[in-house]
Amino acid sequence: MGNAYGHFDDDAREYVVTRPDTPLPWLNVLGQDELFGLCTNTGGGYTFWRDARLRRLTRYRYNDAPYDSVGRYLFVRDGATVWNPGWKPTKTPLDRYECRHGLGYTRITGAKDGVEVELLFFVPPGEDAELWRTTVRNVGAVTKELTLFSYVEFCLYEALNDMTNFQRTYSIGEVEVDGGAIFHTTEYRERRDHLTMFGCTGEIAGFDTSRDAFVGVHNGLHEATVPFAGAAANSVAHGWNPIGSHQLDLRLEPGAEERFAFVLAYLHDPEPREQGRALLARYRDRDAVESAFAALGERWESLLSAFQVDCPDPHATRMANTWNPLQCMATFNLSRSASLYESGIGRGMGFRDSNQDLLGFVHLIPERARGRLLDLAATQLADGTCFHQYQPLTKQGNAEIGGDFYDDHLWLVLSSCAYVKETGDDSVLDEPVGYADTPGSGETLLHHLETSIAYTLSHRGPHGLPLIGHADWNDCLNLNCFSTEPDESFQTAGDVEGSVAESVMIAGLFLRACDELAALYRHLGRDEDAKRVDASSAEMLAVVEEHGWDGEWYVRAFDAAGEPVGSHTCDEGRIFIESQAWCVLGGAGRENGRARRALESVREHLGSEHGIVLHQPAYTRYRPELGEITSYPPGYKENAGVFSHNNTWITLAWCLEGEGERALETYLAICPSAREEAIETYRSEPYVYAQMIAGPDAATPGEAKNSWLTGTAAWAFVSLAQGILGIEPGYDGLRVNPCIPRGWGGYRVSRRFRGVLYEIEVANPDGVSRGVRSLHVDGREVAGDVIPLAAGGPVQVQVVLGAN
Ligand code: BGC
Ligand code: NOJ
Repeated sequence: MGNAYGHFDDDAREYVVTRPDTPLPWLNVLGQDELFGLCTNTGGGYTFWRDARLRRLTRYRYNDAPYDSVGRYLFVRDGATVWNPGWKPTKTPLDRYECRHGLGYTRITGAKDGVEVELLFFVPPGEDAELWRTTVRNVGAVTKELTLFSYVEFCLYEALNDMTNFQRTYSIGEVEVDGGAIFHTTEYRERRDHLTMFGCTGEIAGFDTSRDAFVGVHNGLHEATVPFAGAAANSVAHGWNPIGSHQLDLRLEPGAEERFAFVLAYLHDPEPREQGRALLARYRDRDAVESAFAALGERWESLLSAFQVDCPDPHATRMANTWNPLQCMATFNLSRSASLYESGIGRGMGFRDSNQDLLGFVHLIPERARGRLLDLAATQLADGTCFHQYQPLTKQGNAEIGGDFYDDHLWLVLSSCAYVKETGDDSVLDEPVGYADTPGSGETLLHHLETSIAYTLSHRGPHGLPLIGHADWNDCLNLNCFSTEPDESFQTAGDVEGSVAESVMIAGLFLRACDELAALYRHLGRDEDAKRVDASSAEMLAVVEEHGWDGEWYVRAFDAAGEPVGSHTCDEGRIFIESQAWCVLGGAGRENGRARRALESVREHLGSEHGIVLHQPAYTRYRPELGEITSYPPGYKENAGVFSHNNTWITLAWCLEGEGERALETYLAICPSAREEAIETYRSEPYVYAQMIAGPDAATPGEAKNSWLTGTAAWAFVSLAQGILGIEPGYDGLRVNPCIPRGWGGYRVSRRFRGVLYEIEVANPDGVSRGVRSLHVDGREVAGDVIPLAAGGPVQVQVVLGAN
């Protein structure tokens, strides 16, 4: 298995990259608390504290040629040869190269001419510092005299200013050098209470802090002056571009090894320099580095023990056990802010995004999920609409990114209910969050959920369907934009005031939100409220069935002129995926067979070998009345690309229909692990989901883009864990409601739920797709399919599927 560039090491929970020249840079995310690093398989990327825009510690040049040519670099000078263990930037051919991306760490090993250098990058739990544990070994037969040069380029903290305002930034850069500690102190004298340290615990033979001196004004990093000259310039930066570089001279006998660490730390008042020196002193002790790394491993083991599966599909097993939770944690930490596609200065914490992401991390980090939920709710406005994004550092809503996305508020209902079901913590509903535009008003989270439902109910169009506003989940279906100005953003253009454009997808989402809220009220013993919500839902359902059904599938929307979008009457964009998914997930079509018909239509018209495309036929010309969706070339992004995120909803919808084969087929079509062998086409990381895979209409079908920060991560987990494997958290216990391929003989899941470990074994002796015949909990038969809440544990659960 594997491909020309690497393979999974499932036991180690690592992806092993064996060639540095991957089809695209393959990324990992370092950090788990406040300090984060983007780290590619050649060491590229940058580090920031909390907020990739406002507290960026090292620089990155997006959209550079070659891609990914700034990062954490170590130059090794051995005689006249200069090389890098991660290959870049010199690209000197290596005798051996390996990069292991693991859980919160990346280990890059390069060897040349009898010298092996291993760099282990990670952020110790609870620490605002990135460590690079560095091991240099003489694996040859002759004594080696080596000179090493480290390299980072400092960012002047505010990343947008740093890359645009050179008339200022070229004059403000300041550094201080104190032995192995290089402090980046720009603006520390003035308005900042923080600085960056790039330190080394080894013995230093020289340093550099001026990029012009180290690299050379007319050089690229691959031909940097200092490493090729073999001696540091001991430069002190005044303005221009401050960097951090240490020189270390090593003499290694055959078989000898040196180990030390570089420490990239964010330090703030009081006494940041002293803190920095103390940090270096601490990590001068090799054992301290080892125990920090061990603590990281323990943190992940404990996270992952919340859900582990052993099922007949190797891709599902591998993704669910390691890579899917890793990606879910990245979406928790970064939302849509920083990746190789998100520049850290564009988008921040997405409202609909993070609410959906929560579904994938709530079981891993319930306490932190609570905080996130409340932060999100606090960016809802009193009328029910929401800031579409907020800035991670300030938690303030960001209006420049646009607003009036009339699906946003409904996702809060789904995330809140998921949180309460997972934790049993009803108290969150009484938290006085208040609204963003009425500070201090103190309305509770439950009030927010009511406001959300009420908003959709009271903002409906001529058919009685919910208004779409600027857009719904599909950011690019802009029915009120009418943009003809090349320089305006589709995400902000246009005015929704007075528009009648409606969304069938929001109607479906509303049905689902009502089901969730009604169930929550029943759990709270508020049956009257539950009934009221049910009545709203029933009314909406009738509207959907009356006006939303097109004959073989659900219509997608009605535009501002009242014309249907996603109907057989359209010349292009006749059928869309989102309305099929959400109408079915909301319970439409259940009684009358339409749900199944809609899903069959999706399979027939939208299915492809690369996954399910968003709609068909692709739009071939720009249509101002539909907006950004028609601006993409056919087959890409929202114009009939495979948008992985919405594929997962179809997986769940097939589960509702009890079709395990279809559910797994849909799950696997976008699964990165299952793409490993088609990597020359796929190009992106085979271990994390990509937002989009080019569809059959594209010039490059099967090519993935925008990996890491996508709602696919959470929903793929939900579709597997709760849909296919059927382990659903509920108010009264864990429900076991699988929908598996008939050929599966069984599987095991271990699931931590409210602090108790449940060891669940499912057997499928009759080869069914769904239906629980018997349930035994610690040897005792339980009626129904809900494992009652237990104390203590581990609890042994035996489930047998089959006809009753
Ligand atoms: C993209 C969307 C994205 C939106 C947000 C659009 O150009 O296609 O996927 O959500 O921008 O900025
Ligand atoms: C990416 C955005 O982050 C997400 O919020 C949106 O739903 C999809 N694009 C689809 O447009």
